[in-house]
Amino acid sequence: MPKTISAPRGTRDLLPAETAAWNRVESVARDLSRRYAFERIETPLFERVELFARGLGESSDAVEKEMFRVSGASGSDEERAEWALRPEPTAGIVRAFIEHGMHVWPGPLRLWMIGPMFRYDRPQAGRFRQFSQWDVEVIGDSGPAVDAELIELAHRFYAEVGLTDVVAHLNTIGDAVCRPVYRQALVDYFSLHVDRLTDDSRRRLQINPLRVLDDKQLAPDLAEGAPKSTDHLCDECRAHFRGVLDLLDALGVRHIVDHRLVRGLDYYTRTAFEFVIAGREGQQHALGGGGRYDGLVEVLGGRPTPGIGFGIGLDRVVIAMHEQGVSVPPTSTLVAVVGFADDHADRLRVAGQLRDAGLAMRPDGSSRKLGKQLEAAGKAGAAWAVIVGEELSQGLVGLKNLDSGEQESVAVEDVAARVSE
Ligand code: HAM
Repeated sequence: MPKTISAPRGTRDLLPAETAAWNRVESVARDLSRRYAFERIETPLFERVELFARGLGESSDAVEKEMFRVSGASGSDEERAEWALRPEPTAGIVRAFIEHGMHVWPGPLRLWMIGPMFRYDRPQAGRFRQFSQWDVEVIGDSGPAVDAELIELAHRFYAEVGLTDVVAHLNTIGDAVCRPVYRQALVDYFSLHVDRLTDDSRRRLQINPLRVLDDKQLAPDLAEGAPKSTDHLCDECRAHFRGVLDLLDALGVRHIVDHRLVRGLDYYTRTAFEFVIAGREGQQHALGGGGRYDGLVEVLGGRPTPGIGFGIGLDRVVIAMHEQGVSVPPTSTLVAVVGFADDHADRLRVAGQLRDAGLAMRPDGSSRKLGKQLEAAGKAGAAWAVIVGEELSQGLVGLKNLDSGEQESVAVEDVAARVSE
């Protein structure tokens, strides 16, 4: 027998038992995108490596360690090395914004997408090499009202999918004016304690000292004593952050100012935020994250345009729903069509009529005994069975409740109403 083939490490098949929760999560995301007046955008699953290197930063983990390079079947080595599967959607959306001249469209632009992202990371609980995000972006609004609106939107999403205890952690990481001052304060501080830093943090201290705060192995006392961005803000960044916090208070959105939150992608400016379940802080558990990227459009060659957005990791949301015991009721009642003999044309016709009426129909394609067909219908999860027989010539079918076993004769056009009672 040929050897079987398994799914690649860090990827999963979503089997029907899990997809009910996924359907729910995606439909809440779509409906909220509509209610918050976002428009859908789709960008390619792969882009030029350079887009991510420039957008997310050469030293970000996503680019430095986790880039999923795509090698085409033909072409020069140079050409093959040029593309990568997208680790995140923001850079691609901003590329599209610039490429299609969207800066002249009536703004601010409000865009959303749901789709797979790829990071060649070491797989572990809640960390996959292919995962899905619901992403929203607002381009052309410098806030702070839009910052608060997005944090409130994410909060509402978690509530509507049924999760409890989700808290927004937020921070500000300043802008081109005040970040260099803060950066230097961190370099000065951590340089005094270099012997207590991990190798990774020592390296980060050279390239991107803010990310030292992100190191999970940073000693708590070192983290506690580290300079805080909020003590080094320029007046504009201070006023912006104050504005966001006041609005969140006014909206009653649960949030915590987290001085260690710096985010892993280089494009962020000012507001940065992440959503975690209270008591389960630690980045691989972030259910979503985002922030402002007021310099990104320019870095990618467009005119200076502010932007802000978030990405919610749908895999982690589904896992959290499972852990919190959120039940997802089936969206439609399944009805089977069974019959006595080789009357498949009748079964398919009746199924078609009832599908027109909106029901989810599962015709039995066999010529087994009726009892066997009914048994199989029950096992497949059907709540009702429509039994097609001689009465069909008078427009009637048998309608059997597979739970109670009760059966009655019903006109085909009345089945939908009866089933939905
Ligand atoms: P991010 O924090 O890198 O931000 O990812 C957003 C969310 O995607 C995370 O909070 C997490 O829920 C999920 N996620 C990330 N990596 C994995 C993984 N390996 N496995 C499972 N889930 C994962 C961004 O991607 C930014 N583009 C967000 C953004 C949009 N900022 C501004 N606009």
